[in-house]
Amino acid sequence: MTLDLTILVGTMTGTAQLVAQELELTFDDENTHVKTRLMDGLDAAAFAGGGLFLICTSTYGQGDVPDNAKALYAALETGRPDLSKVRYGIIALGDRTYAETFCNGGKRFDTLLSALGARRIGDTMLHDASAGTMPEEVALEWAGTWIDRCREALRLAA
Ligand SMILES: Cc1cc2nc3c(=O)[nH]c(=O)nc-3n(C[C@H](O)[C@H](O)[C@H](O)COP(=O)(O)O)c2cc1C
Repeated sequence: MTLDLTILVGTMTGTAQLVAQELELTFDDENTHVKTRLMDGLDAAAFAGGGLFLICTSTYGQGDVPDNAKALYAALETGRPDLSKVRYGIIALGDRTYAETFCNGGKRFDTLLSALGARRIGDTMLHDASAGTMPEEVALEWAGTWIDRCREALRLAA
């Protein structure tokens, strides 16, 4: 079974995009089709038809999603589409220096997607920029297990 995965990237300074590119380079093969899209200009139609998505986003402002994710987030919040055919995972980039709002961008997407009927696979990956680890390395390790879980979940659902 081929796994079709779309990574949606919310980023301000490119870290989340770098993480997504590393994941695409590593996991895109004959069994797993990985496509990366920046969230810029996207609306709820990005989820039309359902499928498997990985939200890879940082956090800015007062625990907000980054600027390029704001229109998509707002479109989902106001349009309230039925996302029951969507399965997703979350990679949330943040910094524990912002204790009150650590990784809130990813957490906000998680809350909103699940409220719209989408179902998360696996635990959210939280990356702390102050920890000294490379987000792309942490993500590669996390995503190997996550993709296995997706295969399992989608096989069971088929
Ligand atoms: C102005 C500013 C505000 C930030 N606010 C938060 C925040 O509220 N919570 C958090 O966890 N991280 C926060 N961060 C950390 C970023 O989310 C983190 O550095 C992330 O890796 C950046 O990824 P990006 O380059 O993809 O945007 C902030 C960073 C900056 C520069």
